[in-house]
Amino acid sequence: MTTETFTGEQIENLRQTAGEHLFMHAMQTADWRDGALKVFVKGEGVWVTDIDGNRLLDGMAGLWYKSAGYGRTEIADAAYAQMVAIDSPPAGSAIPSTIKLSGVVSELYPDHDARLFFVSGGSEAVETAVKMAKKYRILTGKQGAYKVMSRRNSYHGGTAMAVSLGGSPAADTMGPTMPGTYHVTNYNAYRPTYHQNPVDEAIAVANEFETVIKHQGPDTVAAIIAEPVSAATGIHIPPPEYWHRLREITETYGIVLIADEVINGFGRLGTWFGTERFGIQPDITTVAKAITSGYLPLGAAIATKKIADTFIGDDTRTFKHLITFGGHPVSSAAALKNLEIYKREDLVGNSDRLGTYLYEQLQKLYEHPSVGDIRGGMGLIAAIELVSDRETKAPFPASAGLAKKLPPALYERNLVSFRASDIISICPPLSINQDEIDFMISVIDEALTEIEKDLGLAC
Ligand SMILES: Cc1ncc(COP(=O)(O)O)c(C=O)c1O
Repeated sequence: MTTETFTGEQIENLRQTAGEHLFMHAMQTADWRDGALKVFVKGEGVWVTDIDGNRLLDGMAGLWYKSAGYGRTEIADAAYAQMVAIDSPPAGSAIPSTIKLSGVVSELYPDHDARLFFVSGGSEAVETAVKMAKKYRILTGKQGAYKVMSRRNSYHGGTAMAVSLGGSPAADTMGPTMPGTYHVTNYNAYRPTYHQNPVDEAIAVANEFETVIKHQGPDTVAAIIAEPVSAATGIHIPPPEYWHRLREITETYGIVLIADEVINGFGRLGTWFGTERFGIQPDITTVAKAITSGYLPLGAAIATKKIADTFIGDDTRTFKHLITFGGHPVSSAAALKNLEIYKREDLVGNSDRLGTYLYEQLQKLYEHPSVGDIRGGMGLIAAIELVSDRETKAPFPASAGLAKKLPPALYERNLVSFRASDIISICPPLSINQDEIDFMISVIDEALTEIEKDLGLAC
């Protein structure tokens, strides 16, 4: 397959069209419309080529999803074959690829008797899980259980309910959030709220859920939702005690525990599912992104048998929830091939092994005075938090302009990052090798040296 090439004039025209007609998601149009938009034309393994011919390592696996890496023609072939056979089902029926995928994922999921509600992405998976939890509580006798609890400074998607759950002041909510959402403190051992000891801190912040549940009345609460490892806000890895406590609290009050594994799921933490790392079984797990490695859109709410069986019976028990393209057969075919590749190349094992290597190698970046905290060591996901003063952990003032300086410093050295500023997130494809990890770290090292020089910090 040849890669399409573009002349200087075509590139200019593309940028102009984008500047005039395209909304980039969660980006300020003025920041890129005058020619600064990054445009990519090819991907291979962990490498991507931009329209100007620069080859860069994608240190963010797209947006936390390109786990099998770029350029997998066998995924494209599987999708093509499904599309020409039959692309989508007549109303009220199913196609083998979607059926097979429900079986394959259930085999991988700790509860092999799970049932999957397929959707088309992470936000829909979260919406589905929350609605399922509410209806489960109604069906099991708690008519008034509509409240949902999550953590402040988390991220669960861009739709109205999911944004409400995120609890982030940066979210563009435009008015009241979903009634009945309650937020508690997120786990953050670098900036703890109660205790310096991570286990004590974890239990204290988990206990905040119980405090709110008791105050609101346990029979009014449907669910708690949390990411096993909070990714979007800086890779905070709690000790297992945190998740054990969440499981204990939810079991005590009969509340549904939802693990949002839209990023963590399918190997990111070095296990198929993130909660396996913490030794607990949630009631519902949400997945998306890496289920297809981003080749096509797909997501799912995975319900344990306990939850799913509640929806079997007469019409009052039906889960009346419908997403037209949920579990699209072409996406399902891509997902099946993607998961086959994971198994064949042991990408989950690679995530575990190379995640440890990545974390060890990252330690040398502590030589930089701006590096306050390095988090990782649980699969191929890590974060570096930059501070202006390591003792006080004071963040850099906005005037330091990190958000404008750091991404280009990484890009010029051929590393793609995502919103790198106070926190540099690292989330490469799970197919990465050791040399490529070394490359990533050397680029970050050089970029930090340049930034620190610019800010007048001695290295
Ligand atoms: C933990 C988590 N949940 C849900 C979502 C929403 O997924 P999507 O953007 O596919 O709707 C995201 C997206 O990044 C996420 O990180």
